[in-house]
Amino acid sequence: MSVRRSYFITTPIYYVNDSPHIGHAYTTLSCDVLARFMRLDGHDVRFLTGTDEHGQKVEKSAAAAGLDPQAFTDRVSAEFKALAEKLNCSFDDFIRTTEARHTRSCQALWQKLVAHGDIYLGSYAGWYAVRDEAFYAESELVGGKAPTGADVEWVEEPSYFFRLSAWQDRLLAFYDANPECIGPRARRNEVISFVKSGLHDLSVSRTSFKWGVPVPNDPAHIMYVWLDALTNYITAVGYPDETSEMFRRYWPADLHMVGKDILRFHTVYWHAFLMAAGVAPPTRVFAHGWWTNEGQKISKSLGNVIDPLKLVDEFGLDPVRYFLLREVPFGSDGNFARHQLIKRINTDLANDLGNLAQRVLSMVAKNCGAAVPTPGPFSAADQTLLGTAHGLIDALRAEMAQQAFHRALELIWTVVSDANRYIDEQAPWTLRKTDPPRMATVLYVLSDVIRHLGILVQPFMPGAAAKILDQLALAGDARGFDRLGPNHALAAGRALPAPAPVFPRYVAPEAAAE
Ligand code: MSP
Repeated sequence: MSVRRSYFITTPIYYVNDSPHIGHAYTTLSCDVLARFMRLDGHDVRFLTGTDEHGQKVEKSAAAAGLDPQAFTDRVSAEFKALAEKLNCSFDDFIRTTEARHTRSCQALWQKLVAHGDIYLGSYAGWYAVRDEAFYAESELVGGKAPTGADVEWVEEPSYFFRLSAWQDRLLAFYDANPECIGPRARRNEVISFVKSGLHDLSVSRTSFKWGVPVPNDPAHIMYVWLDALTNYITAVGYPDETSEMFRRYWPADLHMVGKDILRFHTVYWHAFLMAAGVAPPTRVFAHGWWTNEGQKISKSLGNVIDPLKLVDEFGLDPVRYFLLREVPFGSDGNFARHQLIKRINTDLANDLGNLAQRVLSMVAKNCGAAVPTPGPFSAADQTLLGTAHGLIDALRAEMAQQAFHRALELIWTVVSDANRYIDEQAPWTLRKTDPPRMATVLYVLSDVIRHLGILVQPFMPGAAAKILDQLALAGDARGFDRLGPNHALAAGRALPAPAPVFPRYVAPEAAAE
């Protein structure tokens, strides 16, 4: 029996101070696409998401909503879970930092840090931004605010510190020995220069509020929310039971997906905490960019927050999934523009892929007795097109390993274009009269190319891909990447169901009403 390689992928855990928006949807979706891709590629995948429920920011939001923090977090956490479900995200575990398993894990990690001599009691005096849940040095402030624009407050209280300053060389050595541990490359360089510029010890406990995990043996202190939050990734695989089957199988995580704003926490603090506790750091952390809305920064005060659920209701789930991962080079910032979304729906989906499938499958239904046609010998053009479809998976694996979703989709769409060019050149509608056996071959080639396209778009658009593959009467267990290539080509003569369009064009409601 072959042993399936494990793949553990995580989203950040989301603050429950506010309802989910497009940024949260984006991070989770990108992980879902990778999780699905790796599953289809035969890996033993574990996909984790969840909510970050402690800290001052959440405590304040609960108070503003007139609820006690637990009732408040129960409500908002459920919204995040519902969003992930509505986006058809195939997560295996949804962690909440208010769960008992997590308190146990945080306290165990803390004790490891103490045992290793990396925690000491001192007092903190400095600036704190509740919005970022981050400490800032005087020198970092810009016009009296955090560099992120968040308001800061002066904090002076007893605090435990983590000896981060002692980890500089070991962190740099780790980055050096693991060139792929941070992506994209430019972000990796930023992290390295930040660490090279010198690290200060980090305040890791607070005494001025209560909503968090108590420090073992000194419950007047609550653990700093980032220490608590980052620990979720190991809690979910069974920490502190490091010898458990689960922990050994999935840790270290293969990928922490994060937004660019929280990369430092995930590559400097987290790695130092883990190394100090004798736990291996994650294999890779990738930082994606931020979305703006029609050119403007997205913010509640500007009132331009994009609700992903509304978008899905208006445009359909798979088109939204496709757009978010196709429109912007993953890792760069991007702009959300409605007209671009509509353009992609009508061009890439309806015209290019949708029409290809619809044209081919309806010709098969009408002219081939509603069954997979029987091919004759393949011409050079047939072999070229089939060859590009067969070769796609290797190219996609390379792009997905770099989280280059946009490139993966571009590559799939070059085959869509090749197939559309081929159909125009071969003109099966003419062959129908002049050379029916050749028409059967052309439609066979196209059907098998559509099979490849359907299988390969599954991670991005699971619903639409399933419709395409259903129309080819492909069994559920014939949809994995191990079925790509000529060895599992469509069986001639198999009866096919009636074709139906998969990607409707978007017609604006006012135009539709005319
Ligand atoms: N709770 C912390 C993460 C702890 S992980 C151990 C947190 N939560 S968050 O809810 O504020 O943000 C979660 C993610 O949403 C981040 O990766 C962030 O980059 C992403 N986004 C928030 N706004 C965004 C955009 N406008 N565009 C893209 N992603 C953005 O940080």
